Amino acid sequence: MQEISASRPKPVTSYSAGPLSGRIGAPGDKSISHRAIMLGGMADGVTTVSGLLEGADILSTVDAVRRLGSKVTRTGEGSWQVEGAVWKGSAAVDCGNAGTGVRLLMGAVAGYDIEVEFTGDESLRSRPMRRITDPLSLMGVEVTDENDGRLPMTIRASADIDGITYETPKASAQIKSAVLLAGLRAKGRTCVIEKPSRDHTERMLNAMGRTVVTEEREDGRRNVYLDGSSDRLRATHIDVPGDPSSAAFAVVAALITPGSDVVVDGVMLNPRRDAVYDALRAMGGDVVFENERVVGGGERVADIRARHSKLTGITVDPSRAADMIDEYPILAVAAACASGTTHMNGIHELRVKESDRISATAALLTENGVTVEEREDGLSVTGGPVAGGATVRTYHDHRIAMSALVLGLVSDRGVSIDDASMIATSYPDFFEHMSALGAKVDT
Ligand code: S3P
Repeated sequence: MQEISASRPKPVTSYSAGPLSGRIGAPGDKSISHRAIMLGGMADGVTTVSGLLEGADILSTVDAVRRLGSKVTRTGEGSWQVEGAVWKGSAAVDCGNAGTGVRLLMGAVAGYDIEVEFTGDESLRSRPMRRITDPLSLMGVEVTDENDGRLPMTIRASADIDGITYETPKASAQIKSAVLLAGLRAKGRTCVIEKPSRDHTERMLNAMGRTVVTEEREDGRRNVYLDGSSDRLRATHIDVPGDPSSAAFAVVAALITPGSDVVVDGVMLNPRRDAVYDALRAMGGDVVFENERVVGGGERVADIRARHSKLTGITVDPSRAADMIDEYPILAVAAACASGTTHMNGIHELRVKESDRISATAALLTENGVTVEEREDGLSVTGGPVAGGATVRTYHDHRIAMSALVLGLVSDRGVSIDDASMIATSYPDFFEHMSALGAKVDT
């Protein structure tokens, strides 16, 4: 694991070198890792987890769940035990950089007799939280909101909240999950009428003994509901599959670097997470799923083989934006190496991720010689030679940092980033994996 100090900015440069080749294992999925620790923390008994992503975001969730009163123990590499508890009293938790961590935890604590003060790092403190606290308030949770809907915020939860029917304003698994987790202990039924989004919370709750029902609606939305109960979740074993969002960095690096042939092992192919691979294939990418299988926890996984390909620009299907929401920066890097223009639309939500990812991606490409048109809710990227030579501002955003370093692998003069320390939030082994594949990255 690359030792990078979290406190001091760490500039890094990547350069073009020979073809990439070899096999790496995908890091554990971030979404599932957060949920495994949280739901284990609420369950009756000891939940065991293998393959947990030990990135900074998840360690923030581990710390938070401990502060809420559950015992969380590391028993080996990626192996953890979580002893559930009934949370009560008061706690102050710092979720670091993790939007998923704080938003799901706000929902998770809502049905307990507990007061929790939530905060996070500078990036997290700038992100909107009312999308979560609005529905929680409707359920009867008291929220202290003194920073225009941003952290720090205090949630005064209660064992006496009501189930609601809530129509999500956007496709967001974080909103859906927060409401469902609050609904676990609420009175009556909680139903989220959602624009479809990743369903890891529903799958894990079902695996832990609570019935979550999903019904497709004629308007394209889905009803997702559960009945509140004082019954606790049932502890279980959770096998965390590889993260398709993290795997996309090596896959795109292989597609754009001449002569490359790379395999990423054990990548989850949940239909709400794999749209980036459909888009890369539509661009002409040689991306093959090998050895498909189902792992404990019910997720389908495969080893993804990617070989260098001649890519062509496409118009990315906006109806699948939620299914690849974290992959647009790296998809834009692939687009920079394609012939023609790739249009990405309907992605306004990218503006409120760890950074404003539309403008951060546009800047990272433009400054390195790529032609980009930025719109309020989209980007168009025209492929061509990548001059490189710029130092990219990462705005403390791990996916911007890794995307810039992948772009550097095909640049004339290398691409630098101002800081690599935050890559550890989601992909602590990124540098080790990239150098194992033959990439030239100077730290
Ligand atoms: C996540 C949901 C997505 C995604 C985030 C992880 C989750 O956010 O961007 O990285 O684990 O539920 P939104 O629900 O806000 O789209």
